Amino acid sequence: MCGIVGYVGRSEAAPILLDGLRRLGYRGYDSAGVAIVNGNKVETRKCAGRIAELGKLMAERPPTGTYGISHTRWATHGKPTDQNAHPHFDATGRLALVHNGVIENYQALKDQLIRDGDTNFASETDTEVLAHLIGKLYDQSIAADTSSNGKTKAELPNKKGRLVEAVRTALRQVIGTYGIALVHRDIPDFIVGARRGSPLVLGVGKDENFLASDVSAIVAYTRDAVYLNDFDVVAVERDKFEISSVAGEGGNYQVSKVEFTDADIKKGDYPHYMLKEIFEQPGSVRDAMRGRLSQEECTAKLGGLNMTPAQLRDVGRVVLTGCGTALHAAMIGEYLIEQLAQIPTEVEYASEFRHRNTPMTRDTLVFAISQSGETADTLGALRESRRKGYRTLGICNNVASTIARESDGGVYMHAGPEIGVAATKSFTSQVAILTAIGLLLGRMRHLSTSEGTRIIEALEALPEQIEEVLKLSDQMKAIAKKYASVSGLLFFGRQFNFPIAVEAALKLKEITYLFAEGHPSAELKHGIIALIRPDLPSVFIAPDDAVFSKNMNNIEQVRARKGPVIAITSGNCAKQLKGIADDIVTVPKVPDFVSPILTVIPLQLLAYHLAVELGRDVDKPRNLAKSVTVE
Ligand code: G6P
Repeated sequence: MCGIVGYVGRSEAAPILLDGLRRLGYRGYDSAGVAIVNGNKVETRKCAGRIAELGKLMAERPPTGTYGISHTRWATHGKPTDQNAHPHFDATGRLALVHNGVIENYQALKDQLIRDGDTNFASETDTEVLAHLIGKLYDQSIAADTSSNGKTKAELPNKKGRLVEAVRTALRQVIGTYGIALVHRDIPDFIVGARRGSPLVLGVGKDENFLASDVSAIVAYTRDAVYLNDFDVVAVERDKFEISSVAGEGGNYQVSKVEFTDADIKKGDYPHYMLKEIFEQPGSVRDAMRGRLSQEECTAKLGGLNMTPAQLRDVGRVVLTGCGTALHAAMIGEYLIEQLAQIPTEVEYASEFRHRNTPMTRDTLVFAISQSGETADTLGALRESRRKGYRTLGICNNVASTIARESDGGVYMHAGPEIGVAATKSFTSQVAILTAIGLLLGRMRHLSTSEGTRIIEALEALPEQIEEVLKLSDQMKAIAKKYASVSGLLFFGRQFNFPIAVEAALKLKEITYLFAEGHPSAELKHGIIALIRPDLPSVFIAPDDAVFSKNMNNIEQVRARKGPVIAITSGNCAKQLKGIADDIVTVPKVPDFVSPILTVIPLQLLAYHLAVELGRDVDKPRNLAKSVTVE
């Protein structure tokens, strides 16, 4: 995915655009650029590399002007080079465009443009083709009317109208996804935006307006936002805006208040967003539960699901889908819903689910889990499920995200903005919500009031217990230093903590670039044991639970082959591990179904401290993006 920021107002656009891009840096960071219009000049600065590189370029030659567009890129078509960096231009260089998404039929559109005599392409990108197409349609519209046909000037659509119409006509030819923003040198103080499948938000200010892929880019300037819908086209001026559809109809919109403030998206005293977000977990888990647990009825209250008690009772099967960390939360959700509600539950990779024909029963309830609410594969899964008529709910963090809006209902995480590319607090919020869903569905069936109360108590105790676990940060830092030169790590867990092994391995891969794998502990002996050697530590997630002694057997198997062992444990089990595990990390003892929310935290910290130790760019790891809005 990529990040877009646009501005039209009375202030200098350059600092606003650059500041917005820095805040969107998590969306992609392999090249960046701006185009600001100043009189009849489009001032462009763009380069491969981080936004800091663009900042240097803009400091050397500051572009001036009060309206413009900007972009930070995560490459899909063409390498991250200066040429391929956005903005891209039409054949005349008067129209500049930035784009987030993929134009799938760009080659066919390009071939047609070339056949029509346009060969002036400067990049390998799909975006440039769209810029050429819109520019050509706009110029044709001007030419047709000036060579005209008896109409008086007043009757002819103005330049703004013509540009919007050219955008609409071009987008009707496009197959694929887009969030776009564009400016034209000949049309002062005017930006056009449009979206389909990639998010775009209009920020409504006083005598100034903004466009952005995400409100975090503009919340320092305004908290009034219009979350655009797919196929919306927006014409933005300083003091007004007009929303219509690609088909040319009037658009419906609503101005919403952004939930968070600029302060929420600052790093504060933390060196990295990831560490800040790890430390926010007592609050984010509390917020995920706030107002959702009823002591009186001994159950969870999740009104956003939009389901009646009878509908909830009739759920016969659950499918949980998502990608990356959200998928790992789903894996815990499977254990939770099956244990608490005894409803058969399956986890599906969103990317697989959407294309394979999973047999489903009529009473299947589908949950699409996504922090961003914009992940293309998860969105595709949600659409496929809804198309087939299954009730499909979202578990999202980003308010008004596409998944949140397209689902039949759902549960917001209320975790606050997550900026670090490696997901941390969103994961624990997702698991807490899935526990609440298990409780709710269980209480519609066999779970007694006392069992319901026990689950509520376990959930309510979590924020304080997380505070305790966060005190392990220094120990995890020391362990990270000790193992800084290893070639990789293996992670093992059983039952509720098997998905934690997989999630911990993902965290490690994402931000340290070390080799890591997560497996069920017992699988060790079915092949992985061949890897065990003194320079490859194994991390066992072995809390004080029903399967601890089984985990112990596997730990012994590793020790017998001289593999170092780091154990994440709880309660009295720490004593049993003494002299067996090389490093013992103890979290509070809790019921098994909530233990993953605690055991994951030291492993988030391990990945974090190891990445810092290795000098990695923790918040912006190589090749990744916070949310992937392409397939
Ligand atoms: C990307 C990120 C992962 C994230 C996944 C799903 O791959 O790098 O960290 O877990 O997307 O993101 P979502 O926003 O759908 O939860």
